[in-house]
Order: sequence, then structure tokens, then C-alpha cells
Amino acid sequence: MLTTTNISKLKKEISKAKKNNLTIGFVPTMGYFHKGHLSLMRAAKKKCNFVVVSIFVNPLQFAPTEDLKKYPRDIKRDCLLAKKEGVDLVFIPQVKEMYPEGFATTVSINSTLTKTMCAVSRPTHFTGVVTVVAKLFNLVTPDFAFFGEKDYQQLLIIKKLVVDLNFPLKIISCPLIRDKDGLALSSRNKYLSPAERTKALSLYKSLLAAKEAILKGESNPEKIKKIMQEVLKPNTKIDYIKIGNPETLEDLKIIKKKVLIAVAAKVGTTRLIDNIVVKLS
Ligand code: PAF
Repeated sequence: MLTTTNISKLKKEISKAKKNNLTIGFVPTMGYFHKGHLSLMRAAKKKCNFVVVSIFVNPLQFAPTEDLKKYPRDIKRDCLLAKKEGVDLVFIPQVKEMYPEGFATTVSINSTLTKTMCAVSRPTHFTGVVTVVAKLFNLVTPDFAFFGEKDYQQLLIIKKLVVDLNFPLKIISCPLIRDKDGLALSSRNKYLSPAERTKALSLYKSLLAAKEAILKGESNPEKIKKIMQEVLKPNTKIDYIKIGNPETLEDLKIIKKKVLIAVAAKVGTTRLIDNIVVKLS
């Protein structure tokens, strides 16, 4: 497995792979790998014969008050894990390699997708994500890029970026991975004390309670929100609950066919997100 911090080296390796007619799969990450990341690498490995993983804690997607400085990092362990998954190249740029002095361009998406859910409490977040992902797509030029459904809103936004700016690649969405007890895997789970981790389970429990009520016939989103609040309130500070259209993220007035249920909440100082999609037959 090759590793590089350097854009020219990355490009050289990519053009070698292209000359050899290899299909390039790309997994962009911020590192501190868990099983969710590894499942993306595995999916990439299955579909592609040259897999590139990037590890870059992107400052542009953190607000000044957020956890950029303390975001967990362990490059050595990450590289060992990526190697085990058969990754071909790990790109680990420094901030100045991605954003050299004078860097002044951002890519933002003006759509209902970027005006709801996480965008409300993190108004600059998705411009940061879209800008870095657009740069990485231009550098890696993958055939396929792999994103997890844990970041459901991010996934839809990246799909929109690819369509709107004609990136010649296909986005592959991969299922959210949970711990045995149901907690959605996230690098930020590292911040949780054992007591907070137990409280954090209420995110998934609230989604399950919502699902159960919907499957029993409840179709009023406000009633579903109340059910979720009862589970969440004793343990977390709710940021939002979304009962929405899984394609557009628009709020539903009545639940029918297919619904996205998503939640963001703080446990202590740690902000967590989770979601499920419920289908009615
Ligand atoms: O999902 C993430 O880890 C990040 O938002 C991404 C897509 C790697 C961009 O920095």
C-alpha cells in the first residue's frame, strides 16, 4: 500500500492506474477509522481494482466553535487498517497542501437539501464538505466514490454536487453500521464517557420507537416527533428531529410509503446524528 501527503505523487499514481485501465474507487474520510469506514473500503475493493482512501480533517467544514482541534486522529493505526482492507493508496494531505495561501474558492449548493437538518445549526458545514469533496474528486478522478448513509444529508448533497457539476463518477451509498447495542458508529463516539455512551443509545431507541409507531399506523409526523422527544429528552439535548421525504428532505405533512427519520442531539458536549428510512408497503 502506498501512502502520500503530496498532490503530485497522488496524481502520478492515479495516472499510472488509469494507464493500466484500473477502475478507481475512492473513499474520502477524516480518519480515525471504525467499522463504518472499513465497510466503505470493502465495498470499494469489491467494485474497483484500485482503491484510494483520503484522510483529511477538513478545517473548512468546522465552525470556529467546533471540535477541529480535538477531532480524534491516529494515522498510524488508520494506515494499518486500510492496508488490511487491501487499499492501494492512502492520501494524507496537510492543510497547506489542500488550502495553500491565497486559496479563495468555495463550492456551495443552494438547495432545500442545504437549508435543513444539520445546516441549521452548522450553517457553513456543507460548503466546507462540498468544497473539499469537489477538490478531492478533481485530484483522485475516481470512477466510483463511496459514502455512508450515516451522514444521510451529506450523501444527498454530494449526489447533487456530482449531477450539477457533471463529475464523471458514480456515488455508491453504503449502509450505516451500528455497534451491537445499536449505537451508530462515529469517530466522535470516542468523546463519550461510559455513562454518556449509554445515554447516546437513546438516539437509536427514538428511531426504533418512531418506526414502531409508523408501522402500527401512525401517520402524523408531529405525533411521531413527540414519541421521539419522550425517549430523547431525559438523556440528550435535541438539535432536530426530521420526518421527511428521503429524496428531498422536505418535511412531510403525512407519512406514507417511504419516510426518512433523522435525529441530531447532544450528549454532554458531543453532537451525534442518526437516521433510519422506513418503508410502508
Ligand atoms: O464524512 C466525512 O468524513 C467528511 O465529511 C468527508 C466526506 C470526508 C469530507 O471531509
